[in-house]
Amino acid sequence: MSQTWWRGAAIYQVYLRSFADGNGDGAGDLAGLRSRLTYLKELGIDAIWLNPWYPSPMADGGYDVADYRDIEPVFGTLAEAERFIVEAHELDIKVIIDVVPNHSSTQSAWFKEALENPAARDRFWFADEPLNDWQSIFGGSAWSQVPDGQWYLHLFAPEQPDFNWANPEVHQEFEDVLRFWFERGVDGFRIDSAALLYKSGTGYEDLDEVHDVYRRWREVADEYGERILIGEVWLPDQERFARYLRPDEMHTAFNFDFLSCAWDPADLRRSIELTLDTHTPIGAPPTWVLSNHDVTRPVTRYGRIDTTFAHGGALHGTPSDPELGYRRARAAALLAMALPGSVYVYQGEELGLPEVEDLPNEVRQDPMYARSGGTNPGRDGCRIPLPWSGEEPPFGFGTGTPWLPQPESWRKLTAEAQRTDLGSMLSLYRTGLGLRRKLLGDGTLTWLPMGEQVLAFTRDSGLTCVTNLGADPVPLPAGEVVLASGPVEDGLLPSDTTAWLT
Ligand code: NOJ
Repeated sequence: MSQTWWRGAAIYQVYLRSFADGNGDGAGDLAGLRSRLTYLKELGIDAIWLNPWYPSPMADGGYDVADYRDIEPVFGTLAEAERFIVEAHELDIKVIIDVVPNHSSTQSAWFKEALENPAARDRFWFADEPLNDWQSIFGGSAWSQVPDGQWYLHLFAPEQPDFNWANPEVHQEFEDVLRFWFERGVDGFRIDSAALLYKSGTGYEDLDEVHDVYRRWREVADEYGERILIGEVWLPDQERFARYLRPDEMHTAFNFDFLSCAWDPADLRRSIELTLDTHTPIGAPPTWVLSNHDVTRPVTRYGRIDTTFAHGGALHGTPSDPELGYRRARAAALLAMALPGSVYVYQGEELGLPEVEDLPNEVRQDPMYARSGGTNPGRDGCRIPLPWSGEEPPFGFGTGTPWLPQPESWRKLTAEAQRTDLGSMLSLYRTGLGLRRKLLGDGTLTWLPMGEQVLAFTRDSGLTCVTNLGADPVPLPAGEVVLASGPVEDGLLPSDTTAWLT
């Protein structure tokens, strides 16, 4: 792979707890992941990004980290993680892990020390009374009280106390954590809540000081050669967003504008152009993301009347036409894979899994559900354990009862059922990612004028991608159709379909 593999990479997101269970306790783990590495190799990805794998009470699915230098026992051991990194590398798959610098866990050594010793509280935000009226992003106040009467800040759940980045010890700690994992071979970090680290009297989003942190982290990453930093930066202002991607800061950041876009030609074109205009001047490759562990699965989202992604669960349970959503999700996948830059695939996206919207409330685990008083169903519906094989739950996920229940109807969606079906979502992803490796990835695009309802462009390799978002079929340009998300007959591209031509 080239020195800059990440510029055009296909990165597969593994939500470890729901990927595959190797020891029968109902939760995914490293043993399960290691046993499925050939599946990922055959899918045609370049890298895996794992959600947090650190020891954690799981108050927020592992984003409440108790120890940044070890592995959650439910997932395995540090030795196993090291073996996994070696095995992935043997298959030429890079490994990216999550780092969570905004907050830790109330079970972390530092927070426990702070509770015992008020003189050791400066690594967090402690005060005699709440310093402001900030609300937690998961609902309720962002301040909670400890037994001796002081209050501490948590932008997320009360189990996730925020670090005080004005304290040099916090800087030192995270640089050391980066080194700890770089030395064990990880190829990069996905940086959680990357824009939120600093707090001031006026707020906490995107304060200028945060860039000094990433400049320093970039120096650390560069010491180890080809290692990368990927930001979770949800900022509507593209100029502010682009500042994180300056040549001495992060390498890439998730494209949440594209992820939140409606299935609408004007909105998608606007988002693609905005993305290219933002990234091109700074030389950073765009990323194309359709889903992750925080958002509604595309098959469900695209089947609704309102096809945008909205935070807060506002559209949860609104009617969704499964066939329409499935067709559009296929078309969207080929569109995303054809755009210049890197592409993300969230586990289960390649199986066309829908969002599970009818989970019984008593099994919901996402803190968003409880913290919102039940008004926001939370994100469990996109985190259901994967169906691998067989006719009934647990569908080869493991031998135990999965930590969240799988729908019976997923028998049609198992990896096994789709593997040999050339018309399946899995086959589409495999073929698409394979062609993408040869013909797409990093570079530029040239738009082709095909009317307002059609997105069409040619890539540097000569491959043309055409997506029809209108109601009627449209004639395809000249060329051989090498892949299509739906039936192409007599040179006509049906509604909600993407075709690739050479
Ligand atoms: C973003 C992560 O993707 C999400 O799952 C988590 O709840 C928050 N950051 C807090 O860490």
